Amino acid sequence: MEENEVIEELRKYNQPRLIDILNKVDNEKRKELVNEVKEINLKELERLYENIKETADVDVGELKPVKSVNPDKLSKEEYDEYENLGADVIKNNKFAVVIMAGGEGTRLGFNGPKGTFKVNVEPEPKYLFEIMADSIARANKKYGVTIPWYIMTSNKNNEQIVNFMEEHNYFGYPKEYVGFFKQGELPLITEDGQLIVDENYNIRKAADGNGSVFKSMHERGVLDEMKEKGIEWVYIGQIDNILLKMVDTLLLGVAIKEGSEIATRSVFKDFPRERMGTLCLKNGKVKVIEYSEIPEDMIEAKNENGEMLFGESNITCNLFSLKAIDKISQENLPYHKAHKKYSYMDENCKIVEPEEPNAYKFEYFIFDSFEFFNQISIVRGKREEDFAPIKNKEGVQSPETAIKLYNDYWRRHADERM
Ligand code: UD1
Repeated sequence: MEENEVIEELRKYNQPRLIDILNKVDNEKRKELVNEVKEINLKELERLYENIKETADVDVGELKPVKSVNPDKLSKEEYDEYENLGADVIKNNKFAVVIMAGGEGTRLGFNGPKGTFKVNVEPEPKYLFEIMADSIARANKKYGVTIPWYIMTSNKNNEQIVNFMEEHNYFGYPKEYVGFFKQGELPLITEDGQLIVDENYNIRKAADGNGSVFKSMHERGVLDEMKEKGIEWVYIGQIDNILLKMVDTLLLGVAIKEGSEIATRSVFKDFPRERMGTLCLKNGKVKVIEYSEIPEDMIEAKNENGEMLFGESNITCNLFSLKAIDKISQENLPYHKAHKKYSYMDENCKIVEPEEPNAYKFEYFIFDSFEFFNQISIVRGKREEDFAPIKNKEGVQSPETAIKLYNDYWRRHADERM
């Protein structure tokens, strides 16, 4: 596309401010900016702008609590049957894991990709990536296999993550079994739908959320690679849960036995306002309402015994069949928006620092993929066994609380350490 055609497109998609800037900057900067515009799906801008006006209204009356399998209530026979079904998949090399590590980890206040954060666990401090590597390696040893391990990065942190893993020799994980793929980005837009140019004359974009994982696996060839390897099931987890058990044979067994394409582990909320996505049923389908969008009456809802009605929560411990990933990668997941303050270049090429939120950042959420399936298996997990997240610098879900959970876990499971 020639420069004038790009301008024409920008006019069509109502971007007067950017056109003004392009008319004022020198040739070199204009060329760079035009090249950046070419990378943006301007048609998508319309959908983003439409999304700004939508409200995420949730009608609690339509929602029901989910049913989950409680491992404590299974008979030994049932438990073993699930475990064996799951173990067979692992032993037959039909299983891969993906760790999503494209997030910014803003709340932790650590200057670097979260996976490169070191936690002071016993008996010696470990990086988050190291904890993940060790966890998969333990399963490899147990089942006599080498599980392919993929890491989703973002444009912003890909180089850092790849170099870090290289420098640390992949923490002993066989390098040829580790793959990296970058997630996508979405442009930010102001309240009137304008693209934002920053102080370096770049168009402001941000990672497009963890729901990007499906499309990104497809676009970066990971899906094809998995198909070639004969992978049938993929565990997708998050980098910041130091009790994450990716090789979850019980979850796998339950999914297979129940004939589900997706399975997820939950934990029950400690208190109603805990910042976790809430699992529920809408029109009979499993759905997650994110903590940032949950309505007050859903937080407060109680059952006849006075207990939290919607306590079952998402901990991003998800298992997908490869077929499911393939299907989702062809679908459009909804956008979720965050209203934030972003400095921007005005039509006179001056940088403006807004006092109030002035723009929107958009993300896809991984759990929105659930809505494309009629049935999803849920296994109730336990905090002390499955969920030690590192989100905040201090207080709840901080290194301190996670380290305690981790150390306590490994004291109880000392015989399983490598
Ligand atoms: C997430 C869940 C929330 C759940 C909680 C449990 C989503 C949208 N929300 O919230 O329902 O209760 O975890 O711990 O999943 N990531 C990317 N790319 C991105 C954004 C995030 O790879 O663009 C990754 C992060 O690196 C991390 C994971 O996704 O591994 C979760 O992201 P985060 O932003 O920390 O989600 P939470 O707000 O904690």
